[in-house]
Amino acid sequence: MDKIKTGLSFDDVLLIPKKGIVSSRKEVDLRTKLTNNILLNVPIISANMDTVTESKMAIAMAQSGGIGFIHRFLSVEEQFNEVLKVKRSEGIIIDNPYTIKKDNTIKDATDFMHSHNINALIVVDKENAVEGILTSRDLVFEDKLNKKVYEVMTPKDKLITAEYGIKLNKAKEILHKNKIEKLPLIDSNFKLKGLITSSDIKKRGKFPNSSKDKKGRLRVGAAVGVKGDFLDRTEALISAGTDAIVVDVAHGHSNLAIKTTRQIKSKFDIDVISGNVCTSTGVKELIKAGADCIKVGVGPGAYCTTRIVTGCGVPQLTAIKECAKAAGKIPVIADGGIKNSGDIVKAIASGASSVMIGNLLAGTDESPGINLLKNGSKVKVGRGMASLGANIHRTKDYEEYVAEGVESLIPYRGKVIEVINQLTGGLRSGVSYNGARNLIGLRKNSEFIRITDKGMRESKPHDIGTI
Ligand code: XMP
Repeated sequence: MDKIKTGLSFDDVLLIPKKGIVSSRKEVDLRTKLTNNILLNVPIISANMDTVTESKMAIAMAQSGGIGFIHRFLSVEEQFNEVLKVKRSEGIIIDNPYTIKKDNTIKDATDFMHSHNINALIVVDKENAVEGILTSRDLVFEDKLNKKVYEVMTPKDKLITAEYGIKLNKAKEILHKNKIEKLPLIDSNFKLKGLITSSDIKKRGKFPNSSKDKKGRLRVGAAVGVKGDFLDRTEALISAGTDAIVVDVAHGHSNLAIKTTRQIKSKFDIDVISGNVCTSTGVKELIKAGADCIKVGVGPGAYCTTRIVTGCGVPQLTAIKECAKAAGKIPVIADGGIKNSGDIVKAIASGASSVMIGNLLAGTDESPGINLLKNGSKVKVGRGMASLGANIHRTKDYEEYVAEGVESLIPYRGKVIEVINQLTGGLRSGVSYNGARNLIGLRKNSEFIRITDKGMRESKPHDIGTI
């Protein structure tokens, strides 16, 4: 027993301040690597949890400079569509715009528009030749839902189109001159090739820091499990345009997770993020299997009870330090337990390239689920993915189900961008307190000091009255 190691967590330490070298925290560069192929402008990822990341969250995260990972507790088709929604949300050119046939009803069209969160459909024939466009403006005063699309659409002879390959500036001019919002792109046979929208052009200026792929589309990742349909799911997610696949399993240092990582890497050309692990041997085995990034964290999350139920885990700061060291040049994500921006500074100083956040993003406008009212205040439901609530409809023997997570009501937290601004603001200051101007400098300069409970008490507001 005298050889028991000590494990430390975020609240056990502080970083000793170093001489500052930036004159404003705006100068601090937060760019990082998700994998060696994928760069992020902000080192924050929204967790692949069903109360955290679907397309709305992933769009907001990528617009903020980070990325979101779509959770896997959806059918393959649903998850495919969530990835597609992100990829279509603000590409410069939408490659395969959503279409409808002219004999469909208006009800068909509005149902599709609502479920895909879009406001226009291109009307095409069987050969994919453009016959018109149907936008939400055409439908504003339309109450006869059984009318056919051709009765209300803007037909081909009144439609403004452009040739596929048109320069962005020219497209902008056409949209502006004709006061239209959508410009279908066609080939010489009038076949539909793409779509440029004025809202995408506007968003481009609004979110200059967003994380984009080579085609100018927002970045997104998506999770798969280690059993059942994971290869078909991976194939579908790649065809929807996912930038990375997350092999998502609580105990990532396992034969199943290693085999899954190896199989996906040998079958597909895609970056794979594997986890979760908390030891150097776990890291090395996943990297050997082909992982391009390692997710670190067993039991630190806000909704996690793994450590209580199983007695297993490693306090997160120690886990990050050991795993990042073992990973070498392969980036590591610190997943779980981030309570404030100071924890992000500590996670990155210990070697993580980015952090994954669940709870702090779960009560936002963009998280899945509806707002509820409790004692007059807005709340949302948050839950661990191994909680009973998250598994009750997937488990036959739910009385025998051993939960490793809990459910909770979370206070409404506003918009994702507001949360991210607070977190990145604190991180920028943390980098400057460490005498650095970027995350590499933060890691290089960092010197931890271990504190006591009294040190932590002193660190928080204390001995003051309430307002
Ligand atoms: P935070 O603290 O940001 O952590 O909410 C998010 C991470 O928590 C993990 N997670 C779980 N861990 N039981 C667990 O032991 C669960 O039910 C559970 N659900 C999520 C996961 O790694 C997530 O990214």
